[in-house]
Amino acid sequence: MNPQRVAVIVAVAALLSLAGCGSDGVDDLAPVPLAEDAAGATVYEERCASCHGTDLRGTDKGPSQLSIVYEPGHHGDDAYVSAIRNGAQQHHWGFGDMPAIEGITDGQIQRVITYIRDEQRRRGFEQ
Ligand code: HEC
Repeated sequence: MNPQRVAVIVAVAALLSLAGCGSDGVDDLAPVPLAEDAAGATVYEERCASCHGTDLRGTDKGPSQLSIVYEPGHHGDDAYVSAIRNGAQQHHWGFGDMPAIEGITDGQIQRVITYIRDEQRRRGFEQ
């Protein structure tokens, strides 16, 4: 088979697989499946970073997790569990509501909180 023919076949296959994903639009929105024992940092990357930032300093969709507002005395671990399970109404900032995080297990919640607390301790709170 000549190289051009191979290129055409590859291109067609790529188009078909794109069409397959995009047809119902659901695949694009479905959460990335996470291993039950995924590390806290991985859970954070997959479930929190899109709004709270890969560096924890927030995005235009959510506040910094290094804000002094989130120190444990003000937002204890229970507040974290509740925000993850039930979402949080906008009250501290102007980013809108936090949605409940779907498809996350209790173990993943505990590990993501441990990860955020470790980072808060390691990097310190800001303002
Ligand atoms: C779709 C965006 C989005 C995602 C994803 C998201 N958050 Fe949030 N989160 C927000 C916004 C917006 C607020 C601020 C609500 C407010 O005004 O106080 C918030 C607030 C919080 C709060 C404070 C809740 C309270 O009681 O004040 C915690 C804790 C939190 N997020 C943790 C997390 C963790 C952990 C994850 C990942 C498991 C996560 N968030 C994923 C948008 C998001």
